[in-house]
Amino acid sequence: MSAPVEDSAPRQVGRRERLLWSDYSRNGEILVDGATESSKSNVMIPATMHYIGYGEGGGPEVLRVAECPVPAIGAREVLIRVEFAGVNRPDLLQRAGNYPPPPGASPILGLEVAGRVAAIGAEVTAWKVGDLVCALTPGGGYAEFCRTDASHCLSLPRGFDLATSAAIPETFFTVWTNVVSRGRLQSGESILIHGGSSGIGYTAIQIAKQLGAVVFTTVGNEQKAKFCLGLGADHVINYRTHDFVSEIKRMTRARGVDIVLDMVGGPYIEKNISLLKSEGRLVQIAFLQGSTVSDFDFMPIMLRRLTVTGSTLRPRTVEEKATIAHALRERVWPLLESGQIKIVVYRFFQFAEVADAHRTIERGEHAGKIVLSVG
Ligand SMILES: NC(=O)c1ccc[n+]([C@@H]2O[C@H](COP(=O)([O-])OP(=O)(O)OC[C@H]3O[C@@H](n4cnc5c(N)ncnc54)[C@H](OP(=O)(O)O)[C@@H]3O)[C@@H](O)[C@H]2O)c1
Repeated sequence: MSAPVEDSAPRQVGRRERLLWSDYSRNGEILVDGATESSKSNVMIPATMHYIGYGEGGGPEVLRVAECPVPAIGAREVLIRVEFAGVNRPDLLQRAGNYPPPPGASPILGLEVAGRVAAIGAEVTAWKVGDLVCALTPGGGYAEFCRTDASHCLSLPRGFDLATSAAIPETFFTVWTNVVSRGRLQSGESILIHGGSSGIGYTAIQIAKQLGAVVFTTVGNEQKAKFCLGLGADHVINYRTHDFVSEIKRMTRARGVDIVLDMVGGPYIEKNISLLKSEGRLVQIAFLQGSTVSDFDFMPIMLRRLTVTGSTLRPRTVEEKATIAHALRERVWPLLESGQIKIVVYRFFQFAEVADAHRTIERGEHAGKIVLSVG
């Protein structure tokens, strides 16, 4: 891959980035210094790297290429020379100042990467320098080098390249833990997945189908409806032209569904609950339209023995994320390798075009994933 950054973008290190970065380095566990490690490895590690800064936060226009020290790694971590980084909606929230990184996490955007292992911590045995991996990161993916726990890295699925593999971790970790672990989806059950064409939605449709579920999904236009049907969704409802509650009641003869995976919240909350069968589960992974409801009636939860749950991935413990990684390797990697689950990248953007990548997601024109070319 070429490195467009140096040629096409100003080398700008804002005061805020420097402050954030030094706070992070001070608070982090620093056992291996990336710069000195370079002499021990085949992957050249410079003292500084380019990353995408967002200053004090704001719209996509605040994103710019900047420079900072290469991160140091802890004993159980690896340093990855990033070739590609997935772009996800939580990155947009963080950029806008609405999703601060958890304590100890990199302040740099980017929750998933693919690249080559450049250095390993003293206790890492699973990886060696030079290995190709894709990885969930606690942040820091929009950069030339990124650190993460060794147990959050996965080998590329057989037959997959780095570019496609960068689009896997964030949505597959999220969907697995929310739909399979928390939602307890079983074969023969039915699930309603809102935002079916989103990164999360298209992942959830495919995993749910592979687990033997009947899949209902909502989308905002007919193109996205076709996309979801192509992925195997059984029933797609355009929520702009049809009321999803009455449509699903009609299609299920008023029986409803076993699980709802929702990112919309707000007015959807009571509607989702009205669609759940007895013992049904509502799994909330975001609240695009707000997290409060006035005059909420809890009675259906008691009468139909419903579970309302949800989670966010980023603050989960290292061990919890490692458990999810293990499950993905065992259960999902074979499905990727056999072509039963597909990775759909809507569009690649160059590193310096990151603002356009964010604008594309904000406009909601994409179906599937957006990936940034970093290397
Ligand atoms: N909890 C977690 O751990 C976790 C992890 C990752 C992501 N998330 C959240 O999951 C959501 C999806 O993330 P992503 O990266 O996949 O984002 P994305 O690709 O941008 O998807 C957002 C989706 O929301 C849909 N949407 C917006 N308003 C809607 C409405 N009123 N009704 C139905 N759908 C609506 C859009 O679909 P239409 O265009 O069809 O309206 C779009 O497909 C985000 O809110 C993100 O913050 C949560």
